[in-house]
Amino acid sequence: MAGEAFQTARGTRDVLWPDSWQMEQMRELTLSWARRYGYELIETPILEKSGVFLRLGEATDIVQHERYRFVDCSGDDLTLRPEGTAAVARAFLQHGLGDREEPVRLCYFGPMFRRERPEAGRFRQHTQFGAELYGSHSPLADAEVILLALSVVDAAGLTQPEARINSIGCADCRPQYRQALIEYFSEREAQLCDDCQARLHQNPLRLLDCKVDVAIRESAPDVESFWCNACRDHIHAVMALIEEAGRRVVRDRHLVRGLDYYTRTVFEVGHPRLGSQVALFGGGRYDGLTASLNGPAVPAVGFGMGIERLLSALPQPMTRPVTLRIYVAHLPGAERDGYRLAQRLRAEGLETDTDLLDRSLKAQLKDAGRRARLAVIVGGREWEQGAVVVRDLSRGEQATVGTHELLSYLRTKIQEDRG
Ligand code: HAM
Repeated sequence: MAGEAFQTARGTRDVLWPDSWQMEQMRELTLSWARRYGYELIETPILEKSGVFLRLGEATDIVQHERYRFVDCSGDDLTLRPEGTAAVARAFLQHGLGDREEPVRLCYFGPMFRRERPEAGRFRQHTQFGAELYGSHSPLADAEVILLALSVVDAAGLTQPEARINSIGCADCRPQYRQALIEYFSEREAQLCDDCQARLHQNPLRLLDCKVDVAIRESAPDVESFWCNACRDHIHAVMALIEEAGRRVVRDRHLVRGLDYYTRTVFEVGHPRLGSQVALFGGGRYDGLTASLNGPAVPAVGFGMGIERLLSALPQPMTRPVTLRIYVAHLPGAERDGYRLAQRLRAEGLETDTDLLDRSLKAQLKDAGRRARLAVIVGGREWEQGAVVVRDLSRGEQATVGTHELLSYLRTKIQEDRG
């Protein structure tokens, strides 16, 4: 019995041409900017041992209910990576990258998986460009990753990103802040939403970014009054560096981020075209992550940027340069000659199509008209005399060209087209 045709799994999508072209451009654009800043590309597996991501925090959404976690048939407990930071930290430790004296700059571009409720800008498989900088405590490092991400947003053609930043303190000053929040919210516990009540003792900072209890959080204690001197100097220096670079950034005292590994700096950048619920990129400093993965403590800071979101925020899609495509058509009996010529042109670097259905010349040229700018017609009298007919499909002109000069003729045409 025939069943229904399969569709993509909920929250995932196929990327068809020309959207796939846009994606390819974004990969090139983001990674070339990262290279300018000295970041090396790292590709970690999409599957990791589940333990790698447990350090994101037991009370975080990602760990509690958004993980694609399974035990495979040999009993290995695996997770489809929901984000890049923990996977890169695992790789950093595994390959001893911390043995280098100088800071280690790593970048990545690839799919992440979260079982979120699919809605605008929220997918179960999304693509992230990310950068992670290891080995520097300096605010220069925090500012560098933010400036890199903003440069990419600029280069993609998106103006006026809205950057928010905060410091959630360090191991010295955060415990007092945490305690103050527990006291403040406990006094109002009955008025809190179910999520906040559940998180109150485990992760009280997260109550600050609750979208439901907005009125209660407004009068909650501000972390600023709890910062130790080092944290205060750090966040002020990061903000000053960003402003010196001509960028606008505002402090948001409610910004805490949804992952547990952050220390000090956290930031998020949005855009009016995305709406207030979804960010273009986000990140922060995470000086304790490598130690929680059983390695030495190495200071680190980084960001992750949602590529689907960046593309959807663009005022118009990136325009694809017109490439002059060639179609090798053939007269009856010359199918193999046409096929071989197409192979030669491709080997010379020309984008070339040819017929695979042994159609009439008329049908081939109709197809060529849809897909190519020039048709090279093989066969008949010209071919016997060592020549082909080249037809300019948009202008309707044609010329007979000797096969030995065909390449230079086509290259001149491509050149003229670009000029
Ligand atoms: P995150 O804020 O969870 O941070 O994700 C980073 C970015 O990925 C978001 O700002 C958003 O653009 C995109 N994103 C996240 N989830 C989805 C989704 N379901 N659909 C579409 N886009 C999404 C992290 O993942 C951290 N690892 C960032 C980081 C790097 N922190 C330090 N280093």
